[in-house]
Amino acid sequence: MNKSLLNNKFVVTTPLYYVNDVPHIGSAYTTMIADVLIRFQRLQGNSALLITGTDEHGQKIQRTAEEKGVATQEHCDRIVQSFEALWEKLNIQYDRFSRTTASNHEAIVREFFQRVWDQGDIYLDQQQGWYCVSCEEFKEARELNEDKFCQIHPNKKAEWRDEENYFFRLSKYQSQLEEIYQNDPDFIQPASRRNEVLNFVNQGLKDFSISRVNLDWGFPVPTDPKHTIYVWFDALLGYVTALLEPDQEPNLENALAQWWPINLHLIGKDILRFHAVYWPAMLLAAKLPIPERVFGHGFLTKDGLKMGKSLGNTLDPFALVDKYGSDAVRYYFVKAIELGKDGDFNEHRFVEVLNADLAKNLGNLLNRTLGMLNKYCQGNGPQLTASDYPEDHPLKIIGKNLSQEVTKSYENLKFKQACEDILALANASNKYIDEGAPWSLFKQGKQAEIEYILYAVLESIRLSAYLLSPIIPNLSNDIYHQLGFDLDFNNKNQIGQKAIFAEHSQWGQLTANRNLNKARPIFSQLELSSGD
Ligand code: MSP
Repeated sequence: MNKSLLNNKFVVTTPLYYVNDVPHIGSAYTTMIADVLIRFQRLQGNSALLITGTDEHGQKIQRTAEEKGVATQEHCDRIVQSFEALWEKLNIQYDRFSRTTASNHEAIVREFFQRVWDQGDIYLDQQQGWYCVSCEEFKEARELNEDKFCQIHPNKKAEWRDEENYFFRLSKYQSQLEEIYQNDPDFIQPASRRNEVLNFVNQGLKDFSISRVNLDWGFPVPTDPKHTIYVWFDALLGYVTALLEPDQEPNLENALAQWWPINLHLIGKDILRFHAVYWPAMLLAAKLPIPERVFGHGFLTKDGLKMGKSLGNTLDPFALVDKYGSDAVRYYFVKAIELGKDGDFNEHRFVEVLNADLAKNLGNLLNRTLGMLNKYCQGNGPQLTASDYPEDHPLKIIGKNLSQEVTKSYENLKFKQACEDILALANASNKYIDEGAPWSLFKQGKQAEIEYILYAVLESIRLSAYLLSPIIPNLSNDIYHQLGFDLDFNNKNQIGQKAIFAEHSQWGQLTANRNLNKARPIFSQLELSSGD
């Protein structure tokens, strides 16, 4: 799968979020997933770049600012602060925050537009049709209900437009796109989304308009400044601008020199067409390589219902992190929802999953094992290493292949699977210690046997914490510290080394006589507050 890692680099993007409102849980979801993936790439010692940012032009944003009576740029700046604040709260380690109102972005958009123009792929024509401002998209009649509302915005009516626009010759790229989908079945994932795109493309691609009139908030069309560049044409290029170094001259050559092509665009299913059809066609027109993979995840619901302001059942990501902490929130969304499928948030289930996996299976296991070590071994790490255990030892046998399996799962975005496989080792460790019953062995004076059991369990917890660190970095830090390591999973420079991965991802690294710290609960049982 990782053709991308040919030169050991991995770039993942989240969508550039609209700044019509503060971030919601949907934006948080994509960004958490992207962060987990990029942290795993770094953990392996690969050069990794996480791009996120904001999409700030277009009619939707302009109108929102007008309604609030705030200057448009000022409105954008305020909302951007709340995105940055949420990413900090969620412990997101992004490398670039791309804003489409940034000064270097206009230069990139102009140069790109010119390239496509020079190809003869842009022409002026009359646009007639229904425009959904909330989607910032012209809709086909079949995509609207009788009253002209689209499916995603049942309270925002599409508006009739009849105006002169510049068009991009998408139809010219029909067969080239079909060839790409055919030759690289992994380009669009998951398979269900790929089928949606294939169906759409099979109906025949139509040219789409890439300029608007009567709109100030955006970049003027270089060849005809009465027109403003369509927000999506501008926004997709935000991924390119993001690749510029801070003081670099903003041109395509500089932007594309180091990190291009993007390895993965992680997006929600509603914006698949833009990323899997329009965007590659735009890049083909500009004679640039296309991204390697586009993954469209599902939508989140709450208590089984579509989340939205109209139903009043939105889930505030800020409040959720305040209440439960960033690791808990990250873990739930990564583990409890299979990426690609729609997923539900239900607070009972949230508490249940966290208590079962983090408080009980992993946290309590560490606590009681370290407790026994204190009691039976005066807190000294046993003088044992992996070679003291036979290959078919019940924990070693799981631990020895775990890293390979989990690496595959992370790389294929099967995070739920990765968590389940890691938790299976913790589960087996709980069973192993219960069956081995060190407390009885102590009464029989069997010190060596006690140490043999405790070492195997502690080592299994260590490996679990290491492999879970992209998801729960703070908890992994706590576990590692209690086991006597001073590795910091939030420190990019310290963590991102191939040699460290080679060692720590293998079962049997807890070296003899390591100074183990006192047991402290790492994750307390959560309780549902009344009224939840
Ligand atoms: N600005 C465009 C993206 C431009 S990318 C060059 C945009 N922004 S958005 O803020 O409206 O949406 C951002 C992402 O949030 C999309 O991927 C969308 O799928 C996702 N989600 C919006 N609501 C969601 C849920 N309820 N659940 C999960 N994700 C959802 O589109």
